[in-house]
Amino acid sequence: MENIKNLKSLAICFNLEDGLSPNREPTKRMLSAMDGMYLDNNALKNMIKEKDILVYEFYELGIPEDPGELAYGTTILYPGKIGDEYFMTKGHFHYKIDTAEIYYCLRGHGHLLMENAEGDIELREMTPGVSVYVPPKFAHRSINISDTEPFIMFFVFRADAGHDYKTIETKGFRKLIIEKNGKPIIIDNPKWKL
Ligand code: NI
Repeated sequence: MENIKNLKSLAICFNLEDGLSPNREPTKRMLSAMDGMYLDNNALKNMIKEKDILVYEFYELGIPEDPGELAYGTTILYPGKIGDEYFMTKGHFHYKIDTAEIYYCLRGHGHLLMENAEGDIELREMTPGVSVYVPPKFAHRSINISDTEPFIMFFVFRADAGHDYKTIETKGFRKLIIEKNGKPIIIDNPKWKL
């Protein structure tokens, strides 16, 4: 075991309560970074005027973007709503579109929404202990349906997959998760563009 410091392995702590790592800086997405992503953009703008709060944060650990490498980390999505729409991540396709991803829920209650270019939709409910396999070619977005708790997930994907945010920023997802009578429901996105 003497040579362990030459092994170039990594041991990184992600706290199970808040999902954060004590010695790494997460990437933060504030409300202002979500312009145009939600159904009610006026509600978003009014919220930003009041306070530009943190919607989610996630880790980019700087693993080399090579095909044999795996990128991983946690994503912490805070509770909140824009109008009737729950706080969510932007969502993305992978540039290398045939690469999959694994999510594992550590805390909270949310959904993972997935769709491919053909319009196939997958929606998975996540609570602590549930893992979801996001198949290749599916865009993916997480949605926090709790009023009080952060939705925290651990993720792993091929490090050279790359993130295509633009397609979703331009077109949106075909489906949205909104709250109706205190419950989450899935609806067609009226702003979705082909
Ligand atoms: Ni991904």
